[in-house]
Amino acid sequence: MNIVQLLDHKIRKAMTEAGVPDDLPPRIAISAKAEFGDFQANGALAAAKQLRQNPRELATAILSHLDLEGEGVAERVDIAGPGFINIHLADSFLAHAATELGMQTAANGGRTLSTAAQAETIVVDYSSPNLAKEMHVGHLRSTIIGDAMVRILECVGHTVIRQNHMGDWGTQFGMLIAELEEQLGEGEQPELALKDLEGFYQQAKTHFDADPGFADKARNYVVKLQSGDQHCRALWQQFIDISIAHSEAIYRQLNVTLSAEHIYPESAYNDDLAGVVTSLQNLGLAKEDQGAMLVFLDELADKKGQPSPVIIQKSDGGYLYATTDLAALAYRAKHLKADRVLYFIDARQSLHMKQIFTVARKAGFVPENIKLEHLPFGTMMGADGKPFKTRSGGTVKLADLLTEAVEKATILIKEKNPDLSPEDQLDVARKVGIGAVKYADLSKTRTNDYLFSWDSMLSFEGNTAPYLQYAYTRIRSIFRKAESSAYNEKPEQTGNTSAETITKTITVTSKEEKALILQVLAFDGTVLQVANDGFPHSLCTYLYELASAFMTFYEHCPILKDDVAPELRSSRLQLCELTAGTLQKGLELLGIETMERM
Ligand code: ARG
Repeated sequence: MNIVQLLDHKIRKAMTEAGVPDDLPPRIAISAKAEFGDFQANGALAAAKQLRQNPRELATAILSHLDLEGEGVAERVDIAGPGFINIHLADSFLAHAATELGMQTAANGGRTLSTAAQAETIVVDYSSPNLAKEMHVGHLRSTIIGDAMVRILECVGHTVIRQNHMGDWGTQFGMLIAELEEQLGEGEQPELALKDLEGFYQQAKTHFDADPGFADKARNYVVKLQSGDQHCRALWQQFIDISIAHSEAIYRQLNVTLSAEHIYPESAYNDDLAGVVTSLQNLGLAKEDQGAMLVFLDELADKKGQPSPVIIQKSDGGYLYATTDLAALAYRAKHLKADRVLYFIDARQSLHMKQIFTVARKAGFVPENIKLEHLPFGTMMGADGKPFKTRSGGTVKLADLLTEAVEKATILIKEKNPDLSPEDQLDVARKVGIGAVKYADLSKTRTNDYLFSWDSMLSFEGNTAPYLQYAYTRIRSIFRKAESSAYNEKPEQTGNTSAETITKTITVTSKEEKALILQVLAFDGTVLQVANDGFPHSLCTYLYELASAFMTFYEHCPILKDDVAPELRSSRLQLCELTAGTLQKGLELLGIETMERM
């Protein structure tokens, strides 16, 4: 149980005893100012309003059922303003909580987290590039944010099913396989022909526009492909396999947990599409309109009252993005047995997602108790304030962007630490470069557009990956120093029990230690919150504040100096250890690697 949960539990109980109905929460928050204590419970105000009571009197009544001081949790609890309950935690309580956490961490071989109250099966749809072209920066945000979320959800105890809903089907594949066939006929190797997917797509398109014979063949190939023609299928499979290999290379480079087993592409639903349309027709939801099948949604009507149209089948019989998404939702509800389905997709697809959710609910494909959430994100902008493009205005390939990140980090690392061995330099530059790109994205409020800037993401100051990675290495270096110095007090070396107790107890002797402990203990609550709301920037802010609290502590609290008593040194070293473990775990949850030196 983390501190917030503990306070929530105790104050909730006192509120019940003071006659407050159970549905009115204590509303525990971190106090904005030190004079208001460490935490405050703001729930008495709302409760008093609802019960038509005087808020200060209600707060007093709640306190009469609470004995945080007697239990050793708080040093002082008081009522402020109209009825806020301010809690000043006891140093001994914090020291004890930190000590316990230290022992737990040691026993588990690393920082562990409290789990969610209710474990759920959560399907997460993310990355999901279109295979006709190379992955571009538009898929970067989905991949990075989605991957941080799956790590977080798993860590708090949920069962996560990753779904990479790759776009591997659709009319453009007729043109692409016709082009592939021609190039192979000229003796080209498939891997080489498709080395540059973007370029290949352009070639095919130019060919299609310039040569009517080729265009006819391409159109014919779409029909053949969809009707299961062996030859076209084989060409398509070859194209898809190579395109998937490109994405997988990027996932590895990005340190993302997606692999082949998570791919459940659009084509996997081909056999379900006719059934989706028939069901919607039978339910009276879909209607024919000029030969096409549509669902009209009054729920999403525009300002003029015109219902929102969703095309589920074209007049030529072809199915659409929406049809596949409906089939996918039915599959996720029925076969994957999801309790919650999350979609990390660009905000520009918000209407599409609303339409899908509404149709799926109305048709009963997804029962009411399954939560459906589109977690949108804004556009990645270049320095010019326009959507991120290459200098010549083309789409930036993800592979090129990541290579550039590592190159830039290499220059930086060579400058900062010329003594690193060439192998270490390479390893550190990779972790810093990739970490910087990921963290820059994760640390911004997801729903906003975000400005891509090499300079700010690679800075060693401020809320950046390099700053946090550096903070981690600094703590590690304290341990290297401690170990190489005479202060090394490993229990197995001294072999006596008093050394054991020395190494296991954390004490609070200053406000900096207290602040650091509070911050370390707030990790669990932060992660649980992100698991619920899907905004990983809160975890970034938290880690930045943790690193800052550590720097302040480090400035004010000497550790290895001669005049520091062994017990105090040991306590402070353990705080260092807890901080490093928390930083590392937090970065790991964001998909960012740490290193011993940089
Ligand atoms: N392939 C789509 C695109 O690149 C994203 C798919 C997102 N997932 C989904 N179930 N619609 O725009």
